[in-house]
Amino acid sequence: MTSDSTTFAALSCQGLHRYLGEFESRVHVLRGITLNVEVGSVHSIVGPSGCGKSTLLYVLGLLDLPDQGRIIIGGEDVSGLSDNELSQKRSELIGFVFQFHFLMHEFTALENVTIPMRRLAKLSPRGMRDRAAMLLEAVGLGDKLERPANHLSGGEQQRVAIARSLANDPKILLADEPTGNLDAENSERIFKLLTDLVKREQKALLLATHNPQIARAGDFIHEMKDGVVVRSGPPSS
Ligand SMILES: Nc1ncnc2c1ncn2[C@@H]1O[C@H](COP(=O)(O)OP(=O)(O)O)[C@@H](O)[C@H]1O
Ligand SMILES: [Mg+2]
Repeated sequence: MTSDSTTFAALSCQGLHRYLGEFESRVHVLRGITLNVEVGSVHSIVGPSGCGKSTLLYVLGLLDLPDQGRIIIGGEDVSGLSDNELSQKRSELIGFVFQFHFLMHEFTALENVTIPMRRLAKLSPRGMRDRAAMLLEAVGLGDKLERPANHLSGGEQQRVAIARSLANDPKILLADEPTGNLDAENSERIFKLLTDLVKREQKALLLATHNPQIARAGDFIHEMKDGVVVRSGPPSS
């Protein structure tokens, strides 16, 4: 079995419910989600389009609030925190890779990666620049640091977004179809980069994916359907 240090949950939630939309279009999107993502582990969420994967990641990433349920990050229940406290937690502890990467299009790759660092304001301008360059090199974009985001391909922009998610060295990485726009070679490279980082630095990664190969390469798979987790477990061999 696993040791104590690996069973400690980096991120967990209990009984999460979320409704979206208003009046007759109000939808009960999350219907009681409970899960634990242990330190040092990679978990995948799979399930058909519309089952609630993105909504769940947004709520766990403190970008949206649940209507009911608890979220515990690094042992702390964050349910009662103010908006300011939540955004501070998000900057310090969570890296988010969005499905549609939301880069600042006129800004360079390097500038995009430094934005979260500026928000946290822990590094000098030089330190931010060096760290952003190192992260962009790690995703294979070392030669495109000064390229404006709108002059990069979709796959390159996705890799900038992955570098950006690592900007503040977060303990928890949440990724919504992070390899959706990447070719097979880059998908594998990015997934390996993220999983190596999780193992080496005892982070945690929860990703939504349609790629069965990626899901199987992680430690745990949560299968969602209509807003509930219908099955959870290690990938069957
Ligand atoms: N703002 C919204 N208002 C109403 N329904 C929404 C809204 N956003 C998402 N939904 C619905 O919530 C469900 C789950 O969406 P989502 O979390 O994006 O699913 P997935 O990421 O698994 O494809 C879908 O049925 C979607 O139509
Ligand atoms: Mg989605």
